[in-house]
Parts: sequence; structure tokens; C-alpha cells
Amino acid sequence: MSLLIINIKSLLQVRENTPGFLSGDEMKTLPSIENAFLKIENDTITNYGKMEDLSDTNADEIIDAKGKFVLPAWVDSHTHIVYAGNREQEFVDRINGLSYEEIFERGGGILNSAKKLQETPEEELYKQSKKRLDNVVRMGTGAIEIKSGYGLTTDAELKMLRVIKRLKADYPGMIKSTFLGAHAFPLEYRENHQGYIDLLCNEMIPAIAEENLADFVDAFLETGYFSVEETERVMQAGKKYGLKAKIHVNQFTAIDGIESCVKNDALSVDHLEIVTDADIEVLKGSKTMPVALPTCSFFITIPYTPARKIIDAGLPLAIASDYNPGTTPSGNMNLVVATACIKLRMTPEEAINAATINGAYAMDLLSTHGSITKGKKANVMITEKLNSFYEIPYNFGDMLIEQVIINGKRI
Ligand code: NIG
Ligand code: FE
Repeated sequence: MSLLIINIKSLLQVRENTPGFLSGDEMKTLPSIENAFLKIENDTITNYGKMEDLSDTNADEIIDAKGKFVLPAWVDSHTHIVYAGNREQEFVDRINGLSYEEIFERGGGILNSAKKLQETPEEELYKQSKKRLDNVVRMGTGAIEIKSGYGLTTDAELKMLRVIKRLKADYPGMIKSTFLGAHAFPLEYRENHQGYIDLLCNEMIPAIAEENLADFVDAFLETGYFSVEETERVMQAGKKYGLKAKIHVNQFTAIDGIESCVKNDALSVDHLEIVTDADIEVLKGSKTMPVALPTCSFFITIPYTPARKIIDAGLPLAIASDYNPGTTPSGNMNLVVATACIKLRMTPEEAINAATINGAYAMDLLSTHGSITKGKKANVMITEKLNSFYEIPYNFGDMLIEQVIINGKRI
């Protein structure tokens, strides 16, 4: 099966070779080809170039993209889309004055979702999650990381991870799964942290590794959740089984968590609404990708990640949706890109780099996703007719993506 897209007004994010992640000033440019073609064979990008250089017009299908932009599909490196039910009451409670932390203290928040998930059969959980996944794919997400962490018992965590495994089989190549058993201490372990960490490290992680259910390990490193030492035990137990760490950190407070993540070779540190100068220093020269989640800040009214401080210090930055029932019930990456521009003061070029190449790095998918590169997966989006790609974030809340192609297939 071959597909040829012709007359593309501008083909964005074209990289002959992927340079690794993009940091600092490298994020300012988005290499493009005007009046371009793109050739796809089966699930792979096989050629691209200027229309005047197109010699072989043989293809099973030809799409005329006159006036339209083509760019790689979004890479959403941080989500929790497998969950049961919603938390719309907490949404209203926050409007009426309660904070996210106060709701958690009352037994709501993550524990509320855990209770719902424990009571939901696997098949129903799969159905609810697949609906969300289909929805975000339609909006241009071509690769997605999905976390567990609403189970908090061995059985319920395994149930979540098996749902992710089924989704992986249904959406080949585009999903990575992360074990987030260390999301919150279950009530029965509130006074016995050691007991829960033992359960995570000695029972859950080995069982998950045995069934090959996770690619990464995560923890909520935060005041009132998991301490630096507790998170280190989880990262180290994961490492024993080949699971790289991607850690929730610095959402509300800075407690030297980033330093510990860098020391433990974390692939990414996510949230970073609070960032100190010391945090910036430890990230410099490391292989750990900072990840901002701007629509989370928008939804629960907390500070926005200081993207300018991070990028202007010469660091890389990825952006992701954090799609989850508590802090971000949306996986719309177009809105994430717009919010990054509007609230994090990232330029459209920086935001698109953050949501494609740098997102791919944060999922360990840089060799296959995140840019228009020969040999990479044919995961691309075609916009409607636009004057400039700046209109994508400018028209925030709108869907200017007309056609999504995943693994060479139209969605
Ligand atoms: O990334 N902060 C920790 N975890 C999720 C939210 C969890 C929830 O409230 O359900 C997040 O924002
Ligand atoms: Fe999250």
C-alpha cells in the first residue's frame, strides 16, 4: 500500500537525520519544505522533497494537499487515559474553593479514582479507555504513553496494565506503558509507607516484569505523596528489571527530587510547575528530559511550568497532555500546544518541537517518531487550508487538523 501526498503548502519538521533531542536555541527552528510531496509505503515514510523534484508519481492513493500543512503526528509522552469514571464533582468542589490538596486530604483525588477502578471490570475499563484513545488519535496523537496508578493493589494495577497491553496490540507501535503504583499511598498504608514500598518493589514490579507489562516506572515524588528516598527505592527496583524512570516531580513543591531523578538516570521529569535554580543546574548536561503539562496547570489553576527559564538556560523541553480524570480531563494535544504558546510563552516552533521530537525522546521513540524522516513511522497530520502554521496555536480550542494518518493508514 502506497500513499503520495502532493502540493503540500509546507511540510514541517523535516529532519534528514534525527539529531537527538532539541535543547535551548535548537528549539527555535522548525525545518520545512515549501511546495512539497511526501511518499509513504506501508507504515513508513520513504521519500519527501520539493514538488519539482517529484519524478515517480505512482501510488495506490494520492492526496492533494494544496494550501495545507503536513507535520508529524503529536507525541503525547505523559497520560493516564486508562481510568474508570470521572471526577466531575471534584471539579465543582474546586470551583467552590477547595484546593487539589484539600480534596485529596478528604479521601478524594487519586484514591477516589482508585476506588472506582478497583470496582470496574477489565472489559469495561478497556471500553472506556479505548474511547478516549480513539478520540485523541482523531485529534492527531500518533504516539502515547499510558500510566497505571489508579489500581494501588497488585490485582488492580495488573488489571490496568493488561488493559494497556490490549490497547498496544490494537494500536501497533504507538503506545508505551508505565507502572505508576507509587501514585498515592492507599489508606491502609498511610501509616506504613515502608510496607507499601516493599509491596511495590518486591511484589508488583517483579510480577509486572514477568508478564512484560511495562516499559517504564513512575512515582509521584511530592510533599505528602512519595519522598525522595521512597521514590529512589522505586526507581532502583524498576531499573533492576530494565524499566527506565519517568517521574512526576515538582508539581507543587521543590524538594530536591529532580536531582535524585537525574542521578537515577530518569528518562524524563514531568510537571515542573515549580523549578529552582538548583533544579536547572542539575538538569544541564543530563539525559533527562523536562516535560511540561500546561493544560494541567490550566485546569486546576496552579502555576505554569517556567518554560522560558528552562529553554533559555539551554535545556530541552517536551510538552504532553497528562490526560487524567483529576487534573487534566483532556488529551487534546492541539490545545496543549496552544496553551504552551499562550501561557508558557513558547513560540509555535518551540511548542511543536516539544510536542513531536522532544516528546518522542521522552518515550524512547526518537528513532521512529517525532519528525518527517525517511524510515520513520508514517504518522502525520494534514491541516486544513491555512496561511501559516501559527494558526494552529492561535486558534486555540479549535481543531485545524483535517486528516490524521497513523502507520500509513488514514484515521
Ligand atoms: O499528573 N499528580 C499526579 N498525578 C496526576 C493526577 C492524578 C489525579 O488527580 O488523578 C497528574 O496530575
Ligand atoms: Fe500525570
